[in-house]
Amino acid sequence: MPFNLKIYLEKKRRIVDEALREVFRNPGDCPSALWESMKYSVFAGGKRLRPILCLAAADAVGLPQRAALRIACSLELIHTYSLIHDDLPSLDDDDYRRGRRTNHKVFGDAMAILAGDGLQTLAFEWVSNPSVYSAQNRKNVPRVVNELAHYAGYQGMVGGQVDDVLSERKKPSLSKVLSIHRRKTGALLLSSVKLPALLAGASPRKVSALTEYGRSAGLAFQIVDDILNETGESKKLGKTAGSDRSRGKMTYPSVIGLEKSKREVERLTRRAVQALESFNAKADPLKAIARYMAERTN
Ligand code: IPE
Ligand code: IPE
Ligand code: MG
Ligand code: MG
Repeated sequence: MPFNLKIYLEKKRRIVDEALREVFRNPGDCPSALWESMKYSVFAGGKRLRPILCLAAADAVGLPQRAALRIACSLELIHTYSLIHDDLPSLDDDDYRRGRRTNHKVFGDAMAILAGDGLQTLAFEWVSNPSVYSAQNRKNVPRVVNELAHYAGYQGMVGGQVDDVLSERKKPSLSKVLSIHRRKTGALLLSSVKLPALLAGASPRKVSALTEYGRSAGLAFQIVDDILNETGESKKLGKTAGSDRSRGKMTYPSVIGLEKSKREVERLTRRAVQALESFNAKADPLKAIARYMAERTN
């Protein structure tokens, strides 16, 4: 049967959603206000691309799905926390996300900040529990946790967010916007395909091929986000279109224009696909996902 990406994404999304429901099965001692706020954003209808990339990379390197889902959920929790904080009035000040009102609009700034904090720490709690892994995978867990913190942290996603905010209304520069995008969005996407390979104990060659895939596809992903912010419709995006321009954000279209930005997406996507040349057919879904990420409309 020919590979059908739409069916593939749907199937993986269902698996991810079920695993996330398991994460939120038992509130324990969590205050109900925090629990509701965290759940509101996690189950607001995101595309689940980072966890899906993680499961696809796991299939390419032979990591059991059960183990991969630990990383996959952690990525989505960190991603969701980053969106909640990104939308706060002191950052991008956005009212809509994933087709709903933003977390702080519903629960207030204090609970939105704390929900982000809660999701981030939950991510590390979930991925670092040694008892869920086989003995063979377990020995790689410290490295996975260490690298996840690196990519999500001050040199990765958080660092990129800082430069994104500090660059508002500043003189456009290609090297600057490249370094912002590589970190604020690229770093977590890269980690989505690298971490399952590390957990599986894949060969250094496989790890670097997946890293190169993630680096190129991750950068392309944020350039598409920039393009859609200029050309898309709020309803379809589930968030406010045109906001980058009104906030004076440094984006690819603002620096090199729309047409060149689109060509850069195509170039990076080809590069991502090429990086997986040495893999067998098990990497075909990753190649298809890279193309989908370039052509997406939301
Ligand atoms: C949006 O990410 C924010 C960026 C890092 C560009 P997604 O487009 O993956 O958002 P969701 O998860 O589907 O809402
Ligand atoms: C979001 O970047 C990046 C992170 C949340 C880490 P943007 O601010 O450009 O993304 P949207 O357009 O709000 O989704
Ligand atoms: Mg932002
Ligand atoms: Mg934003």
